[in-house]
Amino acid sequence: MTKYRLHNLCFVIELKFITAMQKKTYKFSSKEVVYYFDASFSFLEKLVDKNNAVIVTDENVFSDHKKKFAGWKTIVIKAGEEFKTQTTVDSIIQQLINHGADRKTFVIGVGGGVVTDMTGYAGSIYMRGVKFGFVPTSILAMVDASIGGKNGVDVGVYKNLVGLIKQPEFLLYDISLLKSLPKEEWVNGFAEIIKHAAIKDALLFKELEKNKLSFYQKDKSALAKLIRRNVMIKSGVVQKDEFEKGERRLLNFGHTLGHAIENLYQLPHGHAISIGMVAACLLAEQFADFKDTGRLVDVLKKYGLPTFAEIDSKKVFQVLKMDKKKELSAMNYIMLKKIGNAFVKSIPIDELEELVKSITMSR
Ligand SMILES: NC(=O)c1ccc[n+]([C@@H]2O[C@H](COP(=O)([O-])OP(=O)(O)OC[C@H]3O[C@@H](n4cnc5c(N)ncnc54)[C@H](O)[C@@H]3O)[C@@H](O)[C@H]2O)c1
Ligand SMILES: [Zn+2]
Repeated sequence: MTKYRLHNLCFVIELKFITAMQKKTYKFSSKEVVYYFDASFSFLEKLVDKNNAVIVTDENVFSDHKKKFAGWKTIVIKAGEEFKTQTTVDSIIQQLINHGADRKTFVIGVGGGVVTDMTGYAGSIYMRGVKFGFVPTSILAMVDASIGGKNGVDVGVYKNLVGLIKQPEFLLYDISLLKSLPKEEWVNGFAEIIKHAAIKDALLFKELEKNKLSFYQKDKSALAKLIRRNVMIKSGVVQKDEFEKGERRLLNFGHTLGHAIENLYQLPHGHAISIGMVAACLLAEQFADFKDTGRLVDVLKKYGLPTFAEIDSKKVFQVLKMDKKKELSAMNYIMLKKIGNAFVKSIPIDELEELVKSITMSR
């Protein structure tokens, strides 16, 4: 009897756990990626064979969540964008060899976008590709970096210059991991959330105008809903255009100037694209009669993001010219017609140099 009750109790607990967690599958060209929302980190043990899996994480995430990593083979890399390099990937590969990783080994990136980008890249090339999955731990990685299969490393000042597009097997969302995320990283992540709203979701933009960061930090269910809505925006865009021939380009809103100033001035990614989004709006005022720059500036400021920086337009232009969004002698620049409605404008490179000068001097 006791045994029966105990068994039943376990069943109830398991059932409760399963109903709380929600599973959604997104089909991309090469594979179906399974998203586990409202999941718990410990569920990872059900997804992979712990004995033949290696977790890649960074030193911050590792030290803040040490207990969770007990019993897992781990590779702990140094934290920060400056370590998103081929040298770090080489070291990950060496450590995979040391762990005895073979073709059947599952590699799991547990961390922010730097970790997931490099884990996806290392997993894609190790033994010509092993299976990999992600547990994003920053807002930015949850709503953006871990989704869509782009992975790679920086080369000097050139962001994400080397890499490839390959989808993970799964994404596991455990928002309790965000408890240890520093405030400035919340702010960074909200830059991408505001970006999604600006290009695709006018209603979400209004919600963001109404609320503030501390609201989402306190209200777990509002945060979970917000993250899921953003995951759906990004996944939907990628699904339509996995290899960035059209629609996916819209996600680069704010990123053209943003990427150029990010590494040149060592700015946090969210700060750089925040400034980039405002610059793109100023261009959109000229090209598309866009009228809501003020609303975007106000929302960015509300979530603690900068909207302007003193920059050397000549230097910035040199880096900008190398951007992957360049095609022949023109650059695909993302602009807004209205909040929630973005479009791609091809601007000749020589014209762009003048425009960059004008928008960086005009404030
Ligand atoms: N692949 C893509 O499509 C894509 C899209 C957007 C951004 N990115 C890339 O993502 C990177 C930025 O991502 P990011 O902002 O997550 O950077 P990150 O990985 O450097 O994380 C930011 C900081 O937060 C720390 N951190 C992360 N999660 C934590 C947690 N739960 N608790 C405590 N500390 C934690 C990290 O250690 C790091 O210091 C950039 O390299 C960018 O190029 C990629
Ligand atoms: Zn970004």
